[in-house]
Amino acid sequence: MNVLPLPGQPVSYWIDSTLKIDYPSLSENISVDVAIVGGGIVGITAATLLKRAGKTVAVIEADRIASGVTGHTTAKLTSLHELIYSQLIDKMGEEKARAYGESNQTAIEQVARFVKEENIDCDFSRTSAYTFSESESNVETLEAEYKAAASLGLPAHFVRHSPLPFPIAGAVRFDNQAQFHPRKYILSLADKIPGNGSYIFENTRVKTVEEGEPCSVVTECGNLTAKDVIVATNLPILDQGLYFAKAHPKRSYLVGGFIEPEKAPEGMYISLGERHYRSIRTTPHNGQTLLIVGGEGHKTASVDDEEQGYSRLEEFARQRFGIEEIQYRWSSQDFVSFDKLPYIGKLTPASNHTYVATGFSLWGMSKGTLSGMLLSDLILGRPNPWAELYDSTRATPFVSGQSVKNNFDVATRWIGDRFKGLDKTSLQDVAPGEGKLVTIEGEKVAAYRDEQGEVHLNSPICPHLGCVVDWHDGDKTWECPCHGSRFTCDGDIVQGPAVKKLGAIEV
Ligand code: FES
Repeated sequence: MNVLPLPGQPVSYWIDSTLKIDYPSLSENISVDVAIVGGGIVGITAATLLKRAGKTVAVIEADRIASGVTGHTTAKLTSLHELIYSQLIDKMGEEKARAYGESNQTAIEQVARFVKEENIDCDFSRTSAYTFSESESNVETLEAEYKAAASLGLPAHFVRHSPLPFPIAGAVRFDNQAQFHPRKYILSLADKIPGNGSYIFENTRVKTVEEGEPCSVVTECGNLTAKDVIVATNLPILDQGLYFAKAHPKRSYLVGGFIEPEKAPEGMYISLGERHYRSIRTTPHNGQTLLIVGGEGHKTASVDDEEQGYSRLEEFARQRFGIEEIQYRWSSQDFVSFDKLPYIGKLTPASNHTYVATGFSLWGMSKGTLSGMLLSDLILGRPNPWAELYDSTRATPFVSGQSVKNNFDVATRWIGDRFKGLDKTSLQDVAPGEGKLVTIEGEKVAAYRDEQGEVHLNSPICPHLGCVVDWHDGDKTWECPCHGSRFTCDGDIVQGPAVKKLGAIEV
């Protein structure tokens, strides 16, 4: 395969354009009303609402606040989630579909309220969201989605034209949606959390949570006790509840480049398409305008040309928008639930004080906010109109062809069939900048050779549940195809559910 050099610097624009923050690690055993594991949009939203309601909270983040999925999103705040309402009405009925739309609309307004009340400078702006297609063959589908959404009272329109600089066949448009800079927003909310018995701890990895009265949160740096615990780690780091089997990890890719202001389209967009959909928005940056194009999503570790996704996005940005240079590239990973609804609520039916939120299916800004709102209501004993719809302990249908396939993929990886034929691959076969599974003295090893020629050797066995990791060349990470844990070339955790690094190998 002819591999092109990857465009741009490998960093999320949202992270690159915000100052580094520095909260301390946990250094003593403390006690709070609510411990929140994970400092992304779910955790910080819940912490803000709970602290406002008089609770003491501790947010415990393994890395840095808003540096995980929240720091790698497209940051669209919308209830238009590509195509959803027609399917929801068909499968679940009008009432549930309406509740889905209303809850996501309410989440947008919650963000708008925080921005106003706290005077947050986060480039929040109201704009329209579009789901579009350039192909006439999709117009009927788009019209059906428009009719479904409009019947639920959502701000939907069907249009044949858009502000995009190329023709479209049709689009569903939702008005009065919003976009923002997710890290500016989260860091500003986070700033108000510490004090009066509340805390934020960074670089503090939680190993497990033991439910009790109180609950115990066990970290690498000490323990916390709390009456209630929210686990907001994208996919829960706790295996009870089997969320790793109720959702599958999906990777997607983004590039960003500056665009001439007169060519920048107003609005946020997503096109229809299995893998080659395009997600488009702009954001202001120091008097300039950055165009962000995302797409190329696939089930984690399921394709061989993942690094070429960046190049395809670059080509799209150049051809369609006249972008001359790509400044940024980054990837994201979210979990897709089988019934399209997120899981928000108790960890298991037997849990009294441990809560989770996961399965946002790549629409995490509205659903993450919604999760923070819903979980804080549950903890405060307040009624929430969407608690039943999103109940994390609900029976999940595992009957679609796709979900069966996803589970099958997990099973086949699990038994380690990917070691077949590896006996003939050795360290000499690993070129600089490349990672491979190899055999060294009869032992299977995940080997990476850096550009300077130094080799980094790790166990290829994922410490979560024992699947075999794969090398992701585009991001220079090891990733687990089963439930999406990701690791650096030295085996450090980039993303859970794993809470232990890959084992280092000495030869
Ligand atoms: Fe579950 Fe690797 S993430 S086995």
